[in-house]
Amino acid sequence: MGMAIPFGEQLRDAHILVVGASQGIGLGFVTHLLQSDRVAQVYATYRQPETATRLLALTDSRLVTLPMDATDEGQIAAAMAAIGAVTQRLEGVINCVGFLHSEAQQPEKSVRQIDAEQLLEYFRVNSIPTALLAKHALPLLKGSDRSLFTTISAKIGSIGDNRLGGWYGYRASKAALNMFLKTIAIEYSRKSPNTTVVALHPGTTDTRLSQPFQRNVPAHKLFTVERTVTQLWQVISGLQAEDNGGFFSWDGTPLPW
Ligand SMILES: NC(=O)c1ccc[n+]([C@@H]2O[C@H](COP(=O)([O-])OP(=O)(O)OC[C@H]3O[C@@H](n4cnc5c(N)ncnc54)[C@H](OP(=O)(O)O)[C@@H]3O)[C@@H](O)[C@H]2O)c1
Repeated sequence: MGMAIPFGEQLRDAHILVVGASQGIGLGFVTHLLQSDRVAQVYATYRQPETATRLLALTDSRLVTLPMDATDEGQIAAAMAAIGAVTQRLEGVINCVGFLHSEAQQPEKSVRQIDAEQLLEYFRVNSIPTALLAKHALPLLKGSDRSLFTTISAKIGSIGDNRLGGWYGYRASKAALNMFLKTIAIEYSRKSPNTTVVALHPGTTDTRLSQPFQRNVPAHKLFTVERTVTQLWQVISGLQAEDNGGFFSWDGTPLPW
């Protein structure tokens, strides 16, 4: 019955988990959620304190920070157990973990640059954590009358929308992520029918991840983190039951798989 009401309107006294909250869009979600009086508790995970200094400097009695590397199932299980000791329900899981480049690894422009280890790294960080989270967060999401399970994907992971090619590992790992989310949505519709599962595209956002690739992005298409999380939260707030298993852009339009 409540599923006809948009997600955001039904939200009260919410407990929300943000995974990959050290910096970028994840950190933006944490600060955005802490401004809402509908949110009772934010659980924010980070894998290493060195890049999480801004998160760890936040002081809010509604914030619980948890060390957790989302690529490590044991650490996910431990973090869920810690959350389960505080609450029997979660209204939201928002996974913002993602990887595009490092000093050692750049996105492939050509098949000549394909490297098996580097491909595995993309899948390890961009695809698999969401499947592990779906496994371990189910009991808490089920405990809520209305909950959300989402991961920040990318339009570049859309197979139907792929016109430019390139970026093999990042594209394929986001396409795999999208398939995980769609498949989770189907299983959850039976096991946790109150949970809405979606993939979200944030738009190009000024973070470490996009930094080396911003040159050709027109200024009005490069969003600040604040703008992106405001837009994504608006999309999330408007979600209805029939949106389960969907892939949505930052302006709420559905994207092709
Ligand atoms: N920015 C954009 O333009 C854009 C566009 C489309 C999609 N996205 C997606 O949006 C999501 C958030 O990205 P962002 O722009 O906020 O990037 P970001 O600022 O680089 O943040 C990425 C997050 O992922 C974590 N992470 C990275 N590598 C990891 C690893 N090997 N193991 C565990 N955690 C790891 C980071 O933790 P550490 O701080 O510990 O490294 C950080 O919390 C990603 O999924 C990204 O693909 C971004």
